[in-house]
Amino acid sequence: MIIELKNIEKINISAFQNDLISWFKREQRDLPWRKDQDPYKIWVSEIMLQQTRVDTVIPYFNRFIEWFPTLEDLAEAEEDIVLKAWEGLGYYSRVRNLQSAVKEVNEKYNGEVPNTPEVIAGLKGVGPYTAGAILSIAYGIPEPAVDGNVMRVISRVLSIWEDIAKSSSRKIFEKAVRQLISHEDPSSFNQALMELGALICTPTSPSCLLCPVRDHCQAFDEGVQNELPIKTKKTKTRNVQLAAAILLDVNGKVLIHKRPATGLLANLWEFPNVEIHHPIQYDREQVVELFQHSIDLKVKLEKIIGQLEHVFSHLVWNIQVYLGTLDTNFQESDEWKLVSVEEMKEFAFPVSYQKMLKLYLEHQKE
Ligand code: ADE
Repeated sequence: MIIELKNIEKINISAFQNDLISWFKREQRDLPWRKDQDPYKIWVSEIMLQQTRVDTVIPYFNRFIEWFPTLEDLAEAEEDIVLKAWEGLGYYSRVRNLQSAVKEVNEKYNGEVPNTPEVIAGLKGVGPYTAGAILSIAYGIPEPAVDGNVMRVISRVLSIWEDIAKSSSRKIFEKAVRQLISHEDPSSFNQALMELGALICTPTSPSCLLCPVRDHCQAFDEGVQNELPIKTKKTKTRNVQLAAAILLDVNGKVLIHKRPATGLLANLWEFPNVEIHHPIQYDREQVVELFQHSIDLKVKLEKIIGQLEHVFSHLVWNIQVYLGTLDTNFQESDEWKLVSVEEMKEFAFPVSYQKMLKLYLEHQKE
Protein backbone atom coordinates (compact mmCIF):
# COMPACT_ATOMS: atom_id res chain seq x y z
CA MET A 1 0.00 0.00 0.00
CA ILE A 2 1.34 3.40 -0.92
CA ILE A 3 0.51 5.97 1.67
CA GLU A 4 0.61 9.61 0.66
CA LEU A 5 1.41 12.08 3.40
CA LYS A 6 1.44 15.34 1.54
CA ASN A 7 1.13 17.46 4.67
CA ILE A 8 4.42 16.23 6.05
CA GLU A 9 6.23 18.47 3.57
CA LYS A 10 4.85 21.51 5.34
CA ILE A 11 6.67 20.59 8.55
CA ASN A 12 10.14 21.66 9.54
CA ILE A 13 10.99 18.29 10.99
CA SER A 14 14.04 19.19 13.03
CA ALA A 15 12.33 22.24 14.57
CA PHE A 16 9.33 20.04 15.38
CA GLN A 17 11.58 17.44 17.06
CA ASN A 18 13.41 20.12 19.04
CA ASP A 19 10.28 21.85 20.27
CA LEU A 20 8.67 18.55 21.21
CA ILE A 21 11.66 16.99 22.93
CA SER A 22 12.76 20.08 24.84
CA TRP A 23 9.20 20.50 26.14
CA PHE A 24 9.21 16.83 27.22
CA LYS A 25 12.50 17.23 29.04
CA ARG A 26 11.14 20.24 30.93
CA GLU A 27 7.64 19.06 31.65
CA GLN A 28 7.61 15.26 31.80
CA ARG A 29 5.91 13.66 34.76
CA ASP A 30 7.99 11.85 37.31
CA LEU A 31 6.82 8.28 36.64
CA PRO A 32 8.26 5.14 38.22
CA TRP A 33 9.05 3.43 34.89
CA ARG A 34 11.08 6.45 33.87
CA LYS A 35 13.67 5.93 36.62
CA ASP A 36 15.81 3.58 34.54
CA GLN A 37 15.85 1.93 31.14
CA ASP A 38 15.47 -1.67 32.22
CA PRO A 39 13.70 -3.24 29.20
CA TYR A 40 11.76 -5.59 31.47
CA LYS A 41 10.30 -2.71 33.49
CA ILE A 42 9.52 -0.72 30.35
CA TRP A 43 7.74 -3.78 28.99
CA VAL A 44 5.65 -4.24 32.15
CA SER A 45 4.72 -0.55 32.19
CA GLU A 46 3.69 -0.51 28.54
CA ILE A 47 1.48 -3.57 28.95
CA MET A 48 -0.17 -2.05 32.03
CA LEU A 49 -0.66 1.28 30.26
CA GLN A 50 -2.38 -0.24 27.25
CA GLN A 51 -5.94 0.09 28.46
CA THR A 52 -5.38 1.79 31.78
CA ARG A 53 -4.74 5.35 32.92
CA VAL A 54 -1.33 6.41 34.24
CA ASP A 55 -2.70 7.31 37.71
CA THR A 56 -4.23 3.86 38.08
CA VAL A 57 -1.13 2.09 36.82
CA ILE A 58 1.43 3.72 39.16
CA PRO A 59 0.65 1.74 42.36
CA TYR A 60 0.15 -1.49 40.42
CA PHE A 61 3.46 -1.02 38.64
CA ASN A 62 5.34 -0.37 41.88
CA ARG A 63 3.87 -3.41 43.57
CA PHE A 64 4.40 -5.63 40.52
CA ILE A 65 8.08 -4.71 40.38
CA GLU A 66 8.36 -5.27 44.13
CA TRP A 67 6.90 -8.76 43.74
CA PHE A 68 8.75 -9.60 40.52
CA PRO A 69 11.87 -7.39 40.42
CA THR A 70 13.44 -9.15 37.44
CA LEU A 71 12.29 -10.87 34.30
CA GLU A 72 13.42 -14.16 35.78
CA ASP A 73 11.28 -13.61 38.89
CA LEU A 74 8.20 -13.14 36.71
CA ALA A 75 9.08 -16.10 34.51
CA GLU A 76 9.27 -18.34 37.55
CA ALA A 77 6.26 -17.01 39.46
CA GLU A 78 3.06 -19.00 40.05
CA GLU A 79 0.28 -17.85 37.75
CA ASP A 80 -2.11 -17.39 40.70
CA ILE A 81 0.28 -14.89 42.27
CA VAL A 82 0.77 -13.07 38.99
CA LEU A 83 -3.01 -12.76 38.59
CA LYS A 84 -3.25 -11.52 42.17
CA ALA A 85 -0.73 -8.79 41.32
CA TRP A 86 -2.93 -7.76 38.39
CA GLU A 87 -6.20 -8.03 40.33
CA GLY A 88 -8.42 -5.05 39.53
CA LEU A 89 -6.46 -3.86 36.46
CA GLY A 90 -8.71 -5.72 34.03
CA TYR A 91 -7.92 -7.22 30.62
CA TYR A 92 -6.20 -10.13 32.35
CA SER A 93 -5.06 -11.77 29.11
CA ARG A 94 -2.48 -8.96 29.06
CA VAL A 95 -0.70 -10.42 32.07
CA ARG A 96 -1.10 -14.03 31.03
CA ASN A 97 0.48 -13.18 27.67
CA LEU A 98 3.17 -11.12 29.39
CA GLN A 99 4.14 -14.03 31.57
CA SER A 100 4.27 -16.51 28.68
CA ALA A 101 6.37 -14.09 26.64
CA VAL A 102 8.68 -13.49 29.60
CA LYS A 103 9.10 -17.25 30.00
CA GLU A 104 10.02 -17.49 26.34
CA VAL A 105 12.58 -14.70 26.69
CA ASN A 106 14.02 -16.37 29.77
CA GLU A 107 14.40 -19.72 28.05
CA LYS A 108 15.19 -18.80 24.46
CA TYR A 109 17.03 -15.50 24.78
CA ASN A 110 18.87 -15.97 28.03
CA GLY A 111 16.63 -13.49 29.82
CA GLU A 112 17.52 -10.60 27.48
CA VAL A 113 14.51 -8.76 26.03
CA PRO A 114 15.03 -8.87 22.24
CA ASN A 115 16.14 -5.64 20.60
CA THR A 116 15.05 -6.14 17.01
CA PRO A 117 11.55 -5.45 15.63
CA GLU A 118 11.28 -8.92 14.08
CA VAL A 119 12.12 -10.88 17.20
CA ILE A 120 10.31 -8.72 19.73
CA ALA A 121 7.13 -8.61 17.65
CA GLY A 122 7.04 -12.41 17.72
CA LEU A 123 6.47 -12.44 21.48
CA LYS A 124 3.00 -13.12 22.82
CA GLY A 125 1.03 -9.97 23.53
CA VAL A 126 3.66 -7.71 21.95
CA GLY A 127 1.92 -5.85 19.14
CA PRO A 128 3.45 -3.11 16.99
CA TYR A 129 2.79 -0.44 19.64
CA THR A 130 4.47 -2.31 22.50
CA ALA A 131 7.35 -3.41 20.27
CA GLY A 132 8.00 0.19 19.23
CA ALA A 133 7.70 1.49 22.79
CA ILE A 134 10.21 -1.03 24.18
CA LEU A 135 12.64 -0.66 21.28
CA SER A 136 12.66 3.12 21.44
CA ILE A 137 12.48 3.68 25.20
CA ALA A 138 14.74 0.85 26.39
CA TYR A 139 17.11 0.56 23.42
CA GLY A 140 16.99 3.95 21.68
CA ILE A 141 15.91 2.43 18.36
CA PRO A 142 13.89 4.79 16.12
CA GLU A 143 10.73 2.72 15.77
CA PRO A 144 7.23 4.24 15.91
CA ALA A 145 5.03 3.47 18.92
CA VAL A 146 1.56 4.38 17.74
CA ASP A 147 -1.41 4.01 20.06
CA GLY A 148 -4.69 5.91 20.15
CA ASN A 149 -3.12 8.92 21.87
CA VAL A 150 -0.33 9.19 19.35
CA MET A 151 -2.82 8.88 16.48
CA ARG A 152 -4.80 11.76 17.97
CA VAL A 153 -1.71 13.98 18.22
CA ILE A 154 -0.43 13.14 14.73
CA SER A 155 -3.86 13.44 13.12
CA ARG A 156 -3.95 17.02 14.39
CA VAL A 157 -0.34 17.94 13.63
CA LEU A 158 -0.60 16.68 10.04
CA SER A 159 -4.36 17.18 9.59
CA ILE A 160 -5.00 13.52 8.76
CA TRP A 161 -8.69 12.75 8.34
CA GLU A 162 -8.53 8.94 8.38
CA ASP A 163 -10.79 7.14 10.83
CA ILE A 164 -8.52 6.13 13.74
CA ALA A 165 -11.03 3.47 14.83
CA LYS A 166 -10.17 1.47 11.71
CA SER A 167 -7.27 -0.90 12.30
CA SER A 168 -5.88 -0.18 8.85
CA SER A 169 -5.26 3.46 9.83
CA ARG A 170 -2.40 2.66 12.19
CA LYS A 171 -0.07 2.09 9.24
CA ILE A 172 -0.61 5.65 8.02
CA PHE A 173 0.36 7.05 11.41
CA GLU A 174 3.36 4.73 11.68
CA LYS A 175 4.56 5.99 8.36
CA ALA A 176 4.19 9.58 9.55
CA VAL A 177 6.08 8.87 12.79
CA ARG A 178 8.87 7.11 10.86
CA GLN A 179 9.42 10.36 9.00
CA LEU A 180 9.12 12.61 12.02
CA ILE A 181 10.99 10.61 14.69
CA SER A 182 14.28 11.89 16.06
CA HIS A 183 17.16 9.50 15.41
CA GLU A 184 19.22 11.16 18.13
CA ASP A 185 16.62 10.56 20.83
CA PRO A 186 13.78 8.27 19.74
CA SER A 187 12.98 7.47 23.36
CA SER A 188 12.22 11.08 24.27
CA PHE A 189 10.47 11.63 20.96
CA ASN A 190 8.00 8.77 21.40
CA GLN A 191 7.43 9.49 25.07
CA ALA A 192 6.93 13.16 24.25
CA LEU A 193 4.15 12.29 21.80
CA MET A 194 2.49 10.16 24.52
CA GLU A 195 2.98 12.90 27.10
CA LEU A 196 1.62 15.56 24.77
CA GLY A 197 -1.46 13.40 24.14
CA ALA A 198 -1.97 12.94 27.87
CA LEU A 199 -1.34 16.49 29.07
CA ILE A 200 -2.03 18.94 26.24
CA CYS A 201 -3.44 17.38 23.08
CA THR A 202 -6.36 15.77 24.94
CA PRO A 203 -9.43 14.27 23.22
CA THR A 204 -11.78 17.12 24.07
CA SER A 205 -10.73 20.73 24.41
CA PRO A 206 -7.00 20.40 23.71
CA SER A 207 -4.88 23.09 25.40
CA CYS A 208 -3.46 24.51 22.18
CA LEU A 209 -2.35 27.74 23.83
CA LEU A 210 0.09 25.75 25.97
CA CYS A 211 1.20 23.44 23.19
CA PRO A 212 4.93 23.33 22.42
CA VAL A 213 4.31 22.32 18.79
CA ARG A 214 1.38 24.62 18.07
CA ASP A 215 3.41 26.43 15.41
CA HIS A 216 3.81 23.13 13.56
CA CYS A 217 0.19 22.01 13.94
CA GLN A 218 -1.90 22.05 10.80
CA ALA A 219 -5.15 21.39 12.63
CA PHE A 220 -4.51 24.45 14.81
CA ASP A 221 -3.58 26.49 11.77
CA GLU A 222 -6.84 25.50 10.09
CA GLY A 223 -8.86 25.82 13.32
CA VAL A 224 -10.03 22.19 13.14
CA GLN A 225 -8.32 20.78 16.22
CA ASN A 226 -11.68 19.98 17.82
CA GLU A 227 -12.84 18.05 14.77
CA LEU A 228 -9.87 15.72 14.74
CA PRO A 229 -9.25 12.86 15.08
CA ILE A 230 -12.04 11.17 13.15
CA LYS A 231 -13.11 8.27 15.29
CA THR A 232 -16.28 6.32 14.49
CA LYS A 233 -18.23 4.71 17.29
CA LYS A 234 -17.55 1.13 18.21
CA THR A 235 -20.30 -1.46 17.91
CA LYS A 236 -22.76 -1.68 20.76
CA THR A 237 -21.98 -3.72 23.87
CA ARG A 238 -23.94 -6.85 24.70
CA ASN A 239 -25.93 -7.15 27.93
CA VAL A 240 -25.66 -10.29 30.03
CA GLN A 241 -27.88 -10.98 33.02
CA LEU A 242 -26.32 -13.06 35.80
CA ALA A 243 -27.50 -14.45 39.11
CA ALA A 244 -24.58 -14.87 41.51
CA ALA A 245 -24.62 -16.08 45.07
CA ILE A 246 -22.68 -15.84 48.28
CA LEU A 247 -23.19 -19.41 49.46
CA LEU A 248 -22.29 -20.30 53.02
CA ASP A 249 -21.63 -23.78 54.34
CA VAL A 250 -22.48 -24.91 57.88
CA ASN A 251 -19.21 -23.42 59.18
CA GLY A 252 -19.90 -20.03 57.62
CA LYS A 253 -17.29 -20.46 54.88
CA VAL A 254 -18.01 -19.05 51.44
CA LEU A 255 -17.93 -21.03 48.20
CA ILE A 256 -15.66 -19.69 45.46
CA HIS A 257 -15.00 -21.00 41.97
CA LYS A 258 -12.03 -20.75 39.63
CA ARG A 259 -13.05 -19.69 36.13
CA PRO A 260 -11.96 -21.81 33.15
CA ALA A 261 -8.44 -21.44 31.75
CA THR A 262 -9.66 -19.78 28.56
CA GLY A 263 -12.06 -16.98 27.74
CA LEU A 264 -13.14 -13.91 29.66
CA LEU A 265 -11.37 -13.45 33.04
CA ALA A 266 -9.68 -16.83 32.60
CA ASN A 267 -8.36 -18.46 35.79
CA LEU A 268 -9.69 -15.72 38.05
CA TRP A 269 -11.94 -16.56 40.98
CA GLU A 270 -15.63 -15.76 41.27
CA PHE A 271 -18.71 -16.49 43.30
CA PRO A 272 -20.94 -19.17 41.81
CA ASN A 273 -23.18 -17.73 39.15
CA VAL A 274 -25.49 -18.62 36.32
CA GLU A 275 -26.59 -16.74 33.26
CA ILE A 276 -30.21 -15.71 33.11
CA HIS A 277 -31.41 -15.49 29.56
CA HIS A 278 -33.66 -12.54 29.16
CA PRO A 279 -36.23 -11.39 28.47
CA ILE A 280 -37.54 -14.05 30.89
CA GLN A 281 -37.71 -12.87 34.50
CA TYR A 282 -36.72 -15.74 36.79
CA ASP A 283 -38.17 -16.24 40.22
CA ARG A 284 -36.02 -17.55 43.04
CA GLU A 285 -36.98 -21.20 42.60
CA GLN A 286 -36.04 -21.07 38.94
CA VAL A 287 -32.65 -19.66 39.85
CA VAL A 288 -32.18 -22.50 42.36
CA GLU A 289 -32.95 -24.96 39.58
CA LEU A 290 -30.47 -23.26 37.28
CA PHE A 291 -27.72 -23.60 39.90
CA GLN A 292 -28.58 -27.28 40.16
CA HIS A 293 -28.73 -27.99 36.43
CA SER A 294 -26.10 -25.78 34.94
CA ILE A 295 -23.37 -25.93 37.59
CA ASP A 296 -24.49 -28.91 39.63
CA LEU A 297 -24.82 -27.03 42.91
CA LYS A 298 -27.55 -27.75 45.44
CA VAL A 299 -28.34 -24.45 47.08
CA LYS A 300 -30.91 -22.56 49.12
CA LEU A 301 -31.28 -18.92 48.21
CA GLU A 302 -32.46 -16.79 51.14
CA LYS A 303 -32.72 -13.37 49.59
CA ILE A 304 -31.45 -10.84 47.11
CA ILE A 305 -28.93 -8.47 48.71
CA GLY A 306 -28.31 -6.23 45.74
CA GLN A 307 -27.83 -5.64 42.08
CA LEU A 308 -24.53 -4.81 40.38
CA GLU A 309 -23.52 -3.58 36.99
CA HIS A 310 -20.08 -4.12 35.52
CA VAL A 311 -19.05 -2.69 32.17
CA PHE A 312 -16.43 -4.42 30.02
CA SER A 313 -15.26 -3.08 26.67
CA HIS A 314 -17.67 -5.31 24.75
CA LEU A 315 -20.09 -6.50 27.39
CA VAL A 316 -22.19 -5.34 30.33
CA TRP A 317 -22.92 -7.70 33.20
CA ASN A 318 -26.02 -7.09 35.28
CA ILE A 319 -25.63 -9.23 38.35
CA GLN A 320 -28.43 -10.05 40.74
CA VAL A 321 -26.73 -10.91 44.03
CA TYR A 322 -28.21 -13.60 46.24
CA LEU A 323 -27.34 -14.77 49.72
CA GLY A 324 -27.84 -18.43 50.40
CA THR A 325 -26.55 -21.66 51.80
CA LEU A 326 -24.92 -24.70 50.35
CA ASP A 327 -26.21 -28.17 50.84
CA THR A 328 -24.19 -30.34 53.16
CA ASN A 329 -21.38 -32.59 51.99
CA PHE A 330 -19.88 -30.28 49.49
CA GLN A 331 -16.69 -31.69 47.98
CA GLU A 332 -13.90 -29.16 47.47
CA SER A 333 -11.65 -29.47 44.41
CA ASP A 334 -9.09 -27.44 42.46
CA GLU A 335 -11.86 -25.22 41.07
CA TRP A 336 -14.26 -25.13 44.00
CA LYS A 337 -13.10 -23.95 47.42
CA LEU A 338 -14.70 -23.05 50.73
CA VAL A 339 -12.88 -20.13 52.28
CA SER A 340 -13.25 -17.54 55.02
CA VAL A 341 -13.42 -13.88 54.09
CA GLU A 342 -9.86 -13.53 55.37
CA GLU A 343 -8.61 -16.40 53.18
CA MET A 344 -10.32 -14.86 50.16
CA LYS A 345 -7.64 -12.16 50.09
CA GLU A 346 -5.19 -14.71 48.68
CA PHE A 347 -7.28 -15.27 45.55
CA ALA A 348 -7.54 -12.98 42.52
CA PHE A 349 -11.10 -11.78 41.89
CA PRO A 350 -12.22 -9.53 39.05
CA VAL A 351 -13.58 -6.15 40.12
CA SER A 352 -17.20 -7.24 39.59
CA TYR A 353 -16.85 -9.94 42.25
CA GLN A 354 -14.88 -7.67 44.57
CA LYS A 355 -17.91 -5.37 44.43
CA MET A 356 -20.08 -8.36 45.25
CA LEU A 357 -17.98 -9.24 48.29
CA LYS A 358 -18.25 -5.64 49.47
CA LEU A 359 -22.01 -5.79 49.12
CA TYR A 360 -22.08 -8.94 51.23
CA LEU A 361 -19.85 -7.47 53.95
CA GLU A 362 -22.00 -4.33 54.12
CA HIS A 363 -25.14 -6.45 54.28
CA GLN A 364 -23.66 -8.45 57.17
CA LYS A 365 -23.06 -5.27 59.18
CA GLU A 366 -26.70 -4.23 59.02
N1 ADE B 1 1.14 5.70 27.92
C1 ADE B 1 1.64 4.65 27.27
N2 ADE B 1 2.94 4.53 27.49
C2 ADE B 1 3.30 5.53 28.31
C3 ADE B 1 4.51 5.94 28.91
N3 ADE B 1 5.63 5.26 28.70
N4 ADE B 1 4.48 7.03 29.68
C4 ADE B 1 3.32 7.68 29.89
N5 ADE B 1 2.17 7.35 29.36
C5 ADE B 1 2.14 6.28 28.58
